[in-house]
Amino acid sequence: MHTLLWSSAMELGHAGMDESHRLLFESLGRLARLADREFTPAWGALVQRLEADFREEEALMERLAHPGLRAHREQHASMLAPLHRATGALLRGDPAPARQALAQLPHWFVLHIVSMDLALAEAAANPLPPALRTASGPLHTYN
Ligand SMILES: [Fe+2]
Repeated sequence: MHTLLWSSAMELGHAGMDESHRLLFESLGRLARLADREFTPAWGALVQRLEADFREEEALMERLAHPGLRAHREQHASMLAPLHRATGALLRGDPAPARQALAQLPHWFVLHIVSMDLALAEAAANPLPPALRTASGPLHTYN
């Protein structure tokens, strides 16, 4: 199986996100090498960890009134949906969908990191002044 490895070229300059992404890629590599018996509980832990990481990013976007919150949240949900379906198959004794999703995850994450997460890291480095933040996003957007 071909696996993408973490590279410092994927760093965004946001220490928390960079560390989370590095650890994620390490865990994907470990998980891919597990036999089915150990794979099932490790898969569950991976999905929980992704859910927690995504919630953390979404909380940061809410604090920043990040204009990309909705699209970013939708992409997180789109990534989690096949993982949840694969969890169902895994619990019914079929590891194939989870193994296939695991092989795709590094590719999905590279695309996500260089698009959505990069925009978030830039917003975190240059936050709007508090007076311009609202619950639904910035008061003014530029077209
Ligand atoms: Fe993200």
